[in-house]
Amino acid sequence: MKTRAELIQEAKKNAALEATKHVKNHSIVGLGSGTTVAFAIEALGERVKNENLKIMGIPSSYQAFQLAVQHNIQITTLDEHPIIDITIDGADQITPELYLIKGMGAALAREKIVAATSKYNIIIADESKRVNMLGENNQAVPIEILPFALSLAKNKITALGGVPIVREGKGKLGPIITDNGNVIIDATFGIIQNPQELSAKIKMIPGIVETGFFVNLTNIAYIATENKIEKIQK
Ligand code: A5P
Repeated sequence: MKTRAELIQEAKKNAALEATKHVKNHSIVGLGSGTTVAFAIEALGERVKNENLKIMGIPSSYQAFQLAVQHNIQITTLDEHPIIDITIDGADQITPELYLIKGMGAALAREKIVAATSKYNIIIADESKRVNMLGENNQAVPIEILPFALSLAKNKITALGGVPIVREGKGKLGPIITDNGNVIIDATFGIIQNPQELSAKIKMIPGIVETGFFVNLTNIAYIATENKIEKIQK
């Protein structure tokens, strides 16, 4: 019998395979970050090898870049290809309206830029990510901040009703540093009624680079359970 961890891995892989079917020849593909997307990048690499699929990837993080290189996916940049055809990414929470919290891998800023540049965005996840409202289960919202603005940001986020915690590194003392040289605050707000409004208020704080709220950026989510893949479409 499979363990729960094995079943989750299998679900992530199934969702990833479903998403990669959308990728057409000669596409510019946004490559999200995280453990679920890692399966999608691997599957795209298989299609490049077996079907001679011609694509170019735009990675949203150093992790995605490394995976793309490992799976022989040609890399390009937003400067060379300012329009992305399709992006595949993961999420930390997904509502029925396709509102998301992202950024537990600290890649939220580039992920949002890639998503906003993309004509079509697919989110893939296992069912543990599905919620009715963002902020359920005390899920924190990751926020990327210039290190110089940290104390100001903590005070302002507290004034907005949040509980800010600076994300510490594992295998490194002190805060984690993002691919952009910034730090991350994980802020809990309880259930979030209006993520768009809260995101806009947070982004008014000087030094905030980006929030992990992704609203109206997703076209389809594939959420895999043990025996089926649910499709949520706008
Ligand atoms: C990276 O910063 C995140 O936005 C990830 O996409 C998100 O945390 C999902 O990651 P997993 O697929 O590893 O759960």
